[in-house]
Amino acid sequence: MGAAIHTTVFASAEQLASAVAERFAALTARPATTPFTVALAGGSTPKRMYELLAAAPHRERIRWDAVEFFFGDERSVPPEHPDSNYGMAKRALFDHVPARAHRMVAERDGAADYARLLGERIVRRRDGVPVLDLVLLGIGEDGHTASLFPSTAALGERTQWVVMNDVPQLHTRRMTLTYPVLNAAEHVWVLIAGAGKRPMVTECLAAAARNETPRPILGVRPTAGELVWFLDAAAAPATNPSA
Ligand code: 6PG
Repeated sequence: MGAAIHTTVFASAEQLASAVAERFAALTARPATTPFTVALAGGSTPKRMYELLAAAPHRERIRWDAVEFFFGDERSVPPEHPDSNYGMAKRALFDHVPARAHRMVAERDGAADYARLLGERIVRRRDGVPVLDLVLLGIGEDGHTASLFPSTAALGERTQWVVMNDVPQLHTRRMTLTYPVLNAAEHVWVLIAGAGKRPMVTECLAAAARNETPRPILGVRPTAGELVWFLDAAAAPATNPSA
């Protein structure tokens, strides 16, 4: 069944971003002989957290040479395009800290190359699948996460680690990590903010309590890792989700 969903609610999106940045810094401080590997989320929610990592005190405290960034998904656009997840993270974070970042070349179907890169850069395996130290995700108002959208082929992928996924509802293709990789991770943190997400969060937490998985985000249940949904008060269900 995978990890239980732990929820933690913050008064504001700013407090959520600050708390996640603190926890990120603490995770990277653990003793390790291999790089700290993290797959970043795209969209708008995580941007503030990335900016906080690129500012004092985190910029000076984190050993960036031991951090390696990957992505959970990417749009089929070049990095300079306003929709690029890599471009957003570059402006918010990579331009300010000396860490390695691996862009998904989604505009040229680089899925096989990206899977090879994961295999080369990530040492740990769980059931043969690379173990990312941390995966950051968001959730769409339709319950998608990464680029695992409702009624799309990538939802059923159990072998490949990275695929191009046709998303007809957006008239586009996207590159995305698949459930095997997301669920092999050591820590999976879902960042959710804004009143627009409350209906989907409420539906999903109720479904999870019934062990139902009607939405793509509910397929993210790490086999051995930690799963935390970080919510601001606007996105949290009207009653405390952990009540
Ligand atoms: C993307 C993201 C996607 C995102 C959700 C939430 O490429 O858009 O990976 O899964 O996390 O759509 O996006 P917001 O944070 O903008 O609400």
